[in-house]
This record gives sequence, C-alpha cells and structure tokens, in this order.
Amino acid sequence: MEDFEKIILALPKGRILDKAVDLMLKSEVMPEKDFKNPDSRKLRFSTNDKDLDLIRIRSADVPTFVAFGAADIGIAGQDDILEQDYPELYVPLDLKIGICKLVIARSADLSTRNDNLSLSYEKVATKYPNITKSYFEKIGVQADCIKLNGAIELAPSLGLCETIVDIVETGETLKANGLVEKEKITDISTHLIVNRASLKTKPEKINKLINRFAETVHGKAA
Ligand code: PRP
Repeated sequence: MEDFEKIILALPKGRILDKAVDLMLKSEVMPEKDFKNPDSRKLRFSTNDKDLDLIRIRSADVPTFVAFGAADIGIAGQDDILEQDYPELYVPLDLKIGICKLVIARSADLSTRNDNLSLSYEKVATKYPNITKSYFEKIGVQADCIKLNGAIELAPSLGLCETIVDIVETGETLKANGLVEKEKITDISTHLIVNRASLKTKPEKINKLINRFAETVHGKAA
C-alpha cells in the first residue's frame, strides 16, 4: 500500500545534479544503492529515512512535479521557478549552488553597429518565453519569442533571430558563438521549493528536511 505520509524529494537531472546530491548527502539523506548505478532505469529511490523517497527528473519539470503535489519538495533553478511561476510553490531556501545569470545577448557584430536594445520589436530565441516577454514589456519592447529547449546560442548565426535570452555561467558559450551580453535580467541560483499544501499536511517532516538543508548551507546553528 502506498504510504501517503511519505515525502518525495525531486532532484534535477543535468548539470546541477552532482552539486544537489552533494548537498543532500551532507544533509544526511542517503539514497539506496541503485541511485548511483548508471545502468539502472529506476526513477524513484528509497533513502536511509523510511519516510523519504527521491525522484530524479528533468530540471525544468521539478517545479511542475512539486506544484501539483506529485513531489512534496524539490531542488530547482530560479530560472525554472520564475518561468513557470506556480502560486502553489513556497521557496524557503537559497541553496547557493548553480549560480549564474539570465541575460539578453546579441551577435557581437550587430552589437557594435546597433548598440542598444532600442527597437520596439525584437524576435528572441529562448527557453524562457514568459520571463522574456515580461522583461521586454517592462522596457517597452514587444518580444516575439521562439521557444527552444537548448543550443539557444546557435539561433542568431542561423538567422532565426538577432537576440537571445539565456543562462550564462562562465560566458564561454556566448563567446564561442560570437555573441555578447547586452543586459542582465536577473541573477539565478538553485533553491529548495515546497508544495504549500504538503507543508500544511506534513509540516514536521518537511520542516525537518528544510532545516537539514539550511544547516548544510549556512552551517549548524550555534
Ligand atoms: C546552459 C545555457 C548556456 C550555457 C551557459 O546550457 O543554456 O547554453 O549553459 O554556460 P556557460 O556560460 O558556462 O558557457 P546547458 O549546458 O545546460 O545546455 P543546453 O544548451 O542544452 O541548455
């Protein structure tokens, strides 16, 4: 029988996974052996805490699983949290990993010719159409977004658009594709997110887990 008192923690696959797992281990959440087995096709794992299971899903899906209560708590980038903007999510803790920024970038050639984002209309390739539209609206520009799921930096050189909105960490991908940053939209880091209803129905277990992560991030309270 399914134990509805169990809580489920959603971990993001991809570049943040190792850092998220490291924080989780330091917070004394130890997954079952299969979690580390590259041949395993399992997506849900038990832990050393019988009341806590893990799921490993695509990073952009973490806010969705948590907002709909399929997971109670999750580790998600602020980019995905802001883009999806679910009111069901409570965001209690900055985990201070996955630090990067969301920027507007254009081709380096174009930037020297026509330096400002001064047009009233921009075609923009991005994974983040909601954030992009509302940011451009604020600066008085109508943005027509082309939604891509990756390799955004290719779009200008292939004539899909002149402008992109994407994540920058080291800046290497922009540089390697002849693009320059024009404007920062926001700084980004990875946060703990919680389903508000779960927090009401299982406050002890969820608060215990939030506190364990908080102690790991900020150091044990004196
Ligand atoms: C992210 C982002 C940029 C790149 C930035 O892509 O979308 O492309 O990292 O990193 P940098 O500034 O250190 O070069 P990711 O590697 O997650 O792959 P994706 O293109 O599939 O989104």
